[in-house]
Amino acid sequence: MDKISLLNKKQQEAVLGGGAKRIDAQHKKGKLTARERLQLLLDEGSFEEIGMLVTHRSQDFGMEKEVYLGDGVVTGYGTINGRLVYVFSQDFTVFGGSLSETHAEKICKIMDLAMQNGAPVIGLNDSGGARIQEGVVSLGGYADIFHRNVQASGVIPQISAVMGPCAGGAVYSPAITDFIMMVENTSYMFVTGPNVVKTVTHETVTSEELGGAQTHASKSGVTHFACANEVECIENIKRLLSYIPQNCEEDAPVYAYEQADETRAKLDNIIPDNPNQPYDIKEVIEELVDGNSFLEVHKDYAENIIVGFARLGGRSIGIVANQPASLAGVLDINASKKGARFTRFCDAFNIPLLVLVDVPGFLPGTDQEWNGIIINGAKLLYALSEATVPKITVITRKAYGGAYDVMNSKHIGADLNYAWPTAEIAVMGAKGAAEIIFKKEIAEAADHEAKWKEKEMEYMEKFANPYGAASRGFVDEVIIPSATRAKLIKAYKMLEHKVVNAPKRKHGNIPL
Ligand code: HXC
Repeated sequence: MDKISLLNKKQQEAVLGGGAKRIDAQHKKGKLTARERLQLLLDEGSFEEIGMLVTHRSQDFGMEKEVYLGDGVVTGYGTINGRLVYVFSQDFTVFGGSLSETHAEKICKIMDLAMQNGAPVIGLNDSGGARIQEGVVSLGGYADIFHRNVQASGVIPQISAVMGPCAGGAVYSPAITDFIMMVENTSYMFVTGPNVVKTVTHETVTSEELGGAQTHASKSGVTHFACANEVECIENIKRLLSYIPQNCEEDAPVYAYEQADETRAKLDNIIPDNPNQPYDIKEVIEELVDGNSFLEVHKDYAENIIVGFARLGGRSIGIVANQPASLAGVLDINASKKGARFTRFCDAFNIPLLVLVDVPGFLPGTDQEWNGIIINGAKLLYALSEATVPKITVITRKAYGGAYDVMNSKHIGADLNYAWPTAEIAVMGAKGAAEIIFKKEIAEAADHEAKWKEKEMEYMEKFANPYGAASRGFVDEVIIPSATRAKLIKAYKMLEHKVVNAPKRKHGNIPL
């Protein structure tokens, strides 16, 4: 009995982490503790802890006298909506959640289990970085985690929530994972903090401005989701998981769906008569997918392209869509990177792709050229071209120039390409085209403007429609917009067992 009491005592001690005072301090900052977060994340009663009694091995700086069971991270497994997940949750009340040799070993242990058993890893990060008292063993511990992050990439989904500080090299573990969520006002990520920035670049900046949730959601694109608070962050993780499979060899969960009238009349009037007038592609998405099933990813970054998960007839799809309501839906560096990254996630995890096209082309200018629109635009081209999941395209309006090719054209391996009657598929816009090919005639005309307009109309009539592409088979079918949802449900069903045998190679060389 004494022995059981001893165990109980140890367990109670471990659950308290760094002690009641530090737990209070954590709460005062508006943050939950590592265990409270896991309680919210996992199905009730499902959590099984691994390594509760692990302690650090440090003998320096009086550390041998300061020992906490669990050593600053709670690790184990549990279920979310009945599906197995592996978790680690850093405990800021123990040495500020800093990463020691043994703290790292605990994380590696559950990552190894996750890889061997084919289930996602979710990391809740809240850490002061490397355990300063331990020196290089802590750095080694980080690298052991990074290496596992890389090995697991594309094998099991990896999700990082940043719920406190995350600085220095520590940022690179979340960066390698598939999705990052941050909490507004209580979390930040940066390679060097405001003090170092001040010394090196003389800039004055707060932690929040430098690396807070909003900054990374809108400016850098480092985080995929900025959440108002920790509860929202955890709910987001659960929602995200509902669209994705356990590992690269499985399919995403299928939700119950009953066939109904799939006609979406609103879509027949959604494209404005004036081709230069914007509309919101999200309204199109909402009409196409199952009710309230669209989960937008990277919402505040590169808003000229929209990416996200949804369900169609109960099955997960990944959507990549030009957004005419932002910069006319043009492809620029950030939009290309955003679209490419999302596409590669979907392809790695067997999630079929739907590409909605309304793109005037690539963004011109020195800023874009000097920052590498060539290499970055190529990322999207590469990603869509290499993807072997079912790929369907719907051209709603413009598909101009190189962007036509890039946006999941038939030529780069799309399975089915639909166009609405409003589609315009051409090398370039009619005005610019007329100026180039009828230069001489326009110059010689008495009224240059009138001639130019006449030639613009001529070009528009010939190419600003989907029928040229349809006659070549580049577009498989020109469809009534209201029938799109029904067509897509059937088409994905038809493509359900698609198999592509890729040529043998070590790996491709995506233009990074
Ligand atoms: C050991 C640490 C620690 C660390 C915090 N603590 N960071 N202990 N190693 N890295 C301890 C504190 O001593 C304190 O202990 C407790 O955690 C809470 O810290 P506070 O400073 O009181 O909290 P707060 O004011 O909220 O500030 C949090 C903080 C700050 C911003 C994270 O603690 C901080 O700047 N820490 C150092 C960060 C850092 O320089 N880390 C190394 C970065 S280099 P008590 O006993 O008082 O509760 C790095 C490289 C990784 O990480 C490389 C990977 C390749």
